[in-house]
Amino acid sequence: MKITVLGTGGGGRAHTAKLLELGHEVYVGTRDPEATLARTEPDMMGNPPYGQWLAQHPGVTLLPFGEAAAAADELVINGIDGHNARAALAAIADDLVGKVLIDYAVPYIYRHETEHPWPTPWGVMPKLDPCDTDSLAEQIQRALPDTKVVKSFVTQEQTTVVNPKSVGGGDHTMFVAGDHADAKRAATELLKAYGWTDILDLGPLVCARGMEMYAHMHSAIAFGLGQQFGGHFGVKVVR
Ligand SMILES: NC(=O)c1ccc[n+]([C@@H]2O[C@H](COP(=O)([O-])OP(=O)(O)OC[C@H]3O[C@@H](n4cnc5c(N)ncnc54)[C@H](OP(=O)(O)O)[C@@H]3O)[C@@H](O)[C@H]2O)c1
Repeated sequence: MKITVLGTGGGGRAHTAKLLELGHEVYVGTRDPEATLARTEPDMMGNPPYGQWLAQHPGVTLLPFGEAAAAADELVINGIDGHNARAALAAIADDLVGKVLIDYAVPYIYRHETEHPWPTPWGVMPKLDPCDTDSLAEQIQRALPDTKVVKSFVTQEQTTVVNPKSVGGGDHTMFVAGDHADAKRAATELLKAYGWTDILDLGPLVCARGMEMYAHMHSAIAFGLGQQFGGHFGVKVVR
């Protein structure tokens, strides 16, 4: 299948590598391919420059966001930085018509002013915006009415999302939410191909609020486990 990953960060790379391994034709979206390939410094998270990573992953086609989205048969994964994702996706709405967009972005605002900061090993905890009464996934769905948005993957580091068996033999839970049953089925099939066995459909896209707000809890658990960045663990819904 032709599958597109929008994003060149650590999460996008994890999905791209796994999709290649599964035999898919993978298109990756970036703002400006030339500029992305010209980078020589690691990114904010310490990932090596994208060109270096790409050289080790032959077969990937790097394109501007819109062209990459248009190249997908059906599935597009959104790994664009959460604060900029809605605007970036709205700008390529026409290329996403009729596609299933699986969104894993967290709408974090970094370096915000707050009276009550939460100090973490890597700085003050970012602020979620939107939060409580809206979510990034809903904002994206409103901006792209002809695209079927599914929120998923977001409650976990993406290296674990693409390799669930690396934690507890895979005995943990992944969530999906969205307003389109066929799109959730497509996302669920992809998750099964990644190795997930416990996939919980939370219902409509409004439930993305819960998934996005879980981001702070994910960090808190990681700190409790003595893991500073990301975290390598899963959550299981015991019923
Ligand atoms: N990494 C994980 O395991 C993980 C886990 C859960 C949730 N998340 C969330 O998922 C999202 C993506 O995370 P990530 O780590 O994969 O990547 P990331 O480093 O957060 O984002 C990288 C992507 O965002 C794009 N971008 C940055 N600023 C932009 C702007 N102003 N306009 C348009 N695009 C812009 C970059 O474009 P260029 O390619 O042009 O540089 C790049 O493709 C984030 O919201 C993150 O919080 C990540």
